[in-house]
Amino acid sequence: MESAKDYIEQNKERFIEELFDLLKIPSISADSAYKKDVIRAAEAVRKSLEQAGCDHTEICETPGYPIVYGEKIIDKNLPTVLVYGHYDVQPPDPLELWDNPPFDPIIKKTDIHPEGAIFARGSCDDKGQMYMHVKALEYMVHTNQLPCNVKFMIEGEEEVGSVSLGWFVERNKEKLKNDIILISDTGMISKEHPSITTGLRGLSYVEVEVTGPNRDLHSGLYGGAVANPINILTKMIASLHDENNRITVPGFYDDVEELSIEERTKMAEAPFDLEEYKKALDIADVYGEAGYSTNERASIRPTLDVNGIWGGYIGEGAKTVIASKAYAKISMRLVPDQNWEKITELFKNHFESIAPEGVKVEVKPHHGGQAYVTPIEHIGYKAAEKAYEATFGKTPIPQRSGGSIPIVALFEEELQSKAILMGFGLASDAIHSPNEHFGVWNYLKGIETIPQFFHYFAEMNK
Ligand code: BES
Ligand code: MN
Ligand code: MN
Repeated sequence: MESAKDYIEQNKERFIEELFDLLKIPSISADSAYKKDVIRAAEAVRKSLEQAGCDHTEICETPGYPIVYGEKIIDKNLPTVLVYGHYDVQPPDPLELWDNPPFDPIIKKTDIHPEGAIFARGSCDDKGQMYMHVKALEYMVHTNQLPCNVKFMIEGEEEVGSVSLGWFVERNKEKLKNDIILISDTGMISKEHPSITTGLRGLSYVEVEVTGPNRDLHSGLYGGAVANPINILTKMIASLHDENNRITVPGFYDDVEELSIEERTKMAEAPFDLEEYKKALDIADVYGEAGYSTNERASIRPTLDVNGIWGGYIGEGAKTVIASKAYAKISMRLVPDQNWEKITELFKNHFESIAPEGVKVEVKPHHGGQAYVTPIEHIGYKAAEKAYEATFGKTPIPQRSGGSIPIVALFEEELQSKAILMGFGLASDAIHSPNEHFGVWNYLKGIETIPQFFHYFAEMNK
């Protein structure tokens, strides 16, 4: 029987070329100017699933961007793995910070990726990681080693809140029925320290608008006599954290899951180099909630961050003006047991309550989702653990991530199955940033490890 290693060795150039073709499509879900490209990417994914050996593939229309579905059912009595991923990408801006155009993929060597890394928007998040599953399927089908049923559900709105996917899942529970959900849309600690993501943070995303006078005013004639919305907004935002960097929204921490000392001690054993961390970001020191380590702050603790702020004059030169309005976009990362809708409500009430007389404040909720955890006792986790042991020769480290894939909690609620997060990206891959890349080694290692998961999951279900 042909091993995955041999198959990958013989086909790796093609695996990379095919991924390049997908990366060339600017499927930016946030920008309606790219609508045609997003739809084109869906069709490309569908075709790749068909070529890889799915017996049935389709483009499922939704009120938003389509969902690509594919399946290969070999025996109704065998377990079914549902693979989830996304074909949409983040906007690439600022463009001038890319060394190569974001949709013109290129392989370049880096210190961490001496075998080369694929530079392009979506290379890691998530086209590259999603495509590992397509190629893993190709290998299993081609060599007659698919040990169970497989379904694919690849969406095009992950980067904008997965609204249509929620709609789709609610209406297609039977079609999507599965025993385990498998996702590669996260990272791992390092090439030497494989890890499995056991948690994702939830999210509440809001936009706030502060309105002062009914028009922009001369800052000399009116300055000092009326509330300046930008001054007020920044003051309000500054008050959202106290001197210990804790969030001041009343009730914000009420439901936060507190980890036991044992759990925190276990977490602290994971390899982490604070000096390297600071060096990689070129910062003199880290910053965050008192009483917690950097790893804890970025995974098991909730946060509140301004993602964008604007208002007034930002053109060339100076303009002496008091703007009528100021705006900000704010994200709150949530942890288990916090309810995102409740947090959104708490934030809205609090933010409106701290507005001084003389301005109007409006809080507009965007989207959100619940945090997620996979227990390491779960059979899916055990199968993944064995898969990494087989291809990395090491037991993977369970690690909670700070990122969010809000739809994962909804999968659990609607489909009653757990998700296993086998991510192969690295923190240095610069997802959502200029020069996003994905190691060729990581890409191929993913293709090698995924069939092992299928093997062990099927075996453990016998
Ligand atoms: N793949 C990421 C999430 C991720 C990356 C989780 C690395 C863990 C490790 C996903 O595409 C993403 O960017 N999610 C968004 C949320 C979404 C609602 C826009 C996020 O985390 O900001
Ligand atoms: Mn992603
Ligand atoms: Mn993303």
